[in-house]
Amino acid sequence: MVQTPEPTSSAPDTAQSFSLWRDARHLFILGIILAGVGYAGIQVRQMMLPEGFGTEGPYRAAAIDEIKARPSLLVADTTCLECHTDVKDEREGTLHEAVACMHCHGFGREHVELARAAAEDPSKEIPAAQEWDGDFFTKIDLFTTEDRRTCLACHEQAIGMPADFKKIDVAFHLEDMGAEEPKSPNVCFECHGGHDTAP
Ligand code: HEC
Ligand code: HEC
Ligand code: HEC
Ligand code: HEC
Repeated sequence: MVQTPEPTSSAPDTAQSFSLWRDARHLFILGIILAGVGYAGIQVRQMMLPEGFGTEGPYRAAAIDEIKARPSLLVADTTCLECHTDVKDEREGTLHEAVACMHCHGFGREHVELARAAAEDPSKEIPAAQEWDGDFFTKIDLFTTEDRRTCLACHEQAIGMPADFKKIDVAFHLEDMGAEEPKSPNVCFECHGGHDTAP
């Protein structure tokens, strides 16, 4: 039992109630609570963490294999050109040789599969390309279009484009070149092609 000091007139009341044991006990209880909460927290984290997390870094190690197993969305131009040798010739040596087919024709994944199946079995048909619906995020697998917007996505003059990139001020270009129907969506094709762009 700790002796409490005699009250003196000058000392405030709180000084009398000082008890080393009682304060240490409060700290001890606080410590137990903190440790308990901490332990429970670690347990919950352990339960919530997906398997493999952290073995390679702050992500699920298995995610790499899962992503690798997904089919590729993109078909390389070289795949298209295996069959479309005429397009290869048309683009040969032009500045558009580097522009991917998908910009103007869609991903063409189903088309490649169907065309390959048809090459093996002539009774199978290759569905015709659809007309582009005007959506740059279109779900159409294979399309053709002469819509100027496909060209202007890359060529319309815009702030910040490299100075030496071949771009046009549309209204000025059409007037300057003497386009017959400057309002037509297909106007660019009065003079240019999609493959060999030379006017
Ligand atoms: C296995 C051969 C093969 C591959 C690979 C292939 N195609 Fe085709 N494609 C064809 C055949 C055959 C046709 C139908 C006949 C034609 O129009 O030449 C066709 C038709 C098309 C058409 C429609 C022509 C029209 O007037 O309707 C487009 C556009 C086209 N292919 C683009 C592509 C693109 C882009 C790729 C690559 C993503 C590709 N093709 C890959 C064989 C192939
Ligand atoms: C800058 C746009 C553009 C790019 C890039 C492009 N094409 Fe085309 N392609 C066109 C246009 C425009 C047509 C004519 C569409 C129509 O029939 O009205 C066309 C037509 C076609 C056709 C139909 C037959 C023909 O020759 O007219 C095929 C097949 C084709 N493209 C394949 C390809 C392949 C394969 C690639 C990639 C190696 C490719 N295109 C890249 C714009 C493009
Ligand atoms: C994905 C981007 C892209 C699209 C879409 C595109 N082009 Fe191009 N085009 C280019 C690039 C890149 C060049 C080379 C630019 C350079 O070197 O400054 C080019 C060059 C050109 C040239 C100059 C050719 C030369 O020999 O001087 C013309 C004309 C042209 N494109 C017309 C078109 C037309 C018409 C369309 C629509 C059918 C189109 N482009 C769609 C990227 C594109
Ligand atoms: C009436 C014919 C005509 C029409 C229509 C036309 N062009 Fe051209 N375009 C030309 C000629 C000719 C040249 C080459 C002369 C030059 O470089 O100034 C050219 C050059 C270009 C160039 C290269 C510019 C450069 O800096 O070298 C681009 C890109 C181009 N056109 C895109 C387009 C697009 C996109 C459209 C549709 C909106 C279009 N053109 C419509 C005739 C035309």
